[in-house]
Amino acid sequence: PRSLRAHAEQRGLLVGCAVVPDRLTGEPPYGSVVAEQANLLVAENAMKWGALRPAPGKFDFRGADEILAFAAGHKQKVRGHNLCWHESIPKWFDGAVTRDNARQFLVQHIQTVAGRYAGKLHSWDVVNEAIDTKSDRPDALRKSPWLELIGPDYIELAFRTARQADPAALLTYNDYGIENDSADNREKRGQVLQLVRRMKDRGVPIDAVGVQSHLTVTDPAPGAGLQEFVRELRRMGLQVFVTELDINERKLEGSIAERDAAIAKLYKDYVTMMVAEPNVSAVLTWGITDRYTWLDGPKYARIDGKPQRCLPFDSDYQPSPAFFAYRDALDTR
Ligand code: G3I
Repeated sequence: PRSLRAHAEQRGLLVGCAVVPDRLTGEPPYGSVVAEQANLLVAENAMKWGALRPAPGKFDFRGADEILAFAAGHKQKVRGHNLCWHESIPKWFDGAVTRDNARQFLVQHIQTVAGRYAGKLHSWDVVNEAIDTKSDRPDALRKSPWLELIGPDYIELAFRTARQADPAALLTYNDYGIENDSADNREKRGQVLQLVRRMKDRGVPIDAVGVQSHLTVTDPAPGAGLQEFVRELRRMGLQVFVTELDINERKLEGSIAERDAAIAKLYKDYVTMMVAEPNVSAVLTWGITDRYTWLDGPKYARIDGKPQRCLPFDSDYQPSPAFFAYRDALDTR
């Protein structure tokens, strides 16, 4: 069998990617690659506040529903991303959400959104990116509207509400910058562990940690520190999902073949390391084709202005060396 999906299924793994609803049906090669390669989908944007909440009392589920319909038609599971984040906050938020009603807004959002899809989702990223190593707080919580309006227990409130609204979904804390062994990433791993430990001690429902895995090929490689982090989470009874894997090559020089080889090697090494851990049960890339990647946006575009080659399929929907490396890595499970 040649797809990532077929190789993953032989080993009881979930594999998939972030998707954009319009493309699933509107762009045939996109739809067929996603159908063939993934058994787990996540909305790149369609389930965020910014997409679901056009106005204070309004919900727009069109994009999210399209993803669920596509997934049902192709026997794929779906992850929810996300219920609570400091980004993708709608424009009306400022002014409408205050200290007096913020808890109510958060609770009502989670009840409505998680409630709508209850029993249908593999997991929810309940809280996304709450830790900031530059925070001056002892709990390392990031400055965010939720922290400012509700206080540090917004996290507990979100997870408890999510569990009630959808008892079947695996409740996940999701974050980035915890993959490699740089001082900053090591510090952040410690802060995430402390957050999760505090939650467990207080009986807050949490089932998994999402390791986003936005890697940069020229950074220190992920290694023993991440492995130990995953094992510590296993001892705490938690699963780990690789939720947003892609490999930024913004400063990588050389021919396309040389760049592809470096990217492919990191896919191989990283996925091999992660799927060797029994509590890692799902791997998702943040997109499937280089044609559409947030890495070509202003913040992380290649320094020579050329397109990034960061995902398993190139911009013509042909499998890159990364695809084969990734597939081989799944086979090591
Ligand atoms: O939909 C509007 C469009 O109507 C408008 O013309 C255009 C002009 O800027 O903006 C469009 O919205 C953009 C949206 O992506 C859809 O393309 C937003 O501005 C832009 O901010 C948004 O970026 C997304 C970002 O999260 C913020 O929500 C990226 O696509 C998405 O890849 C990125 O994903 C995040 C994860 O959720 C969390 N982890 C990090 C990851 C990468 O930043």
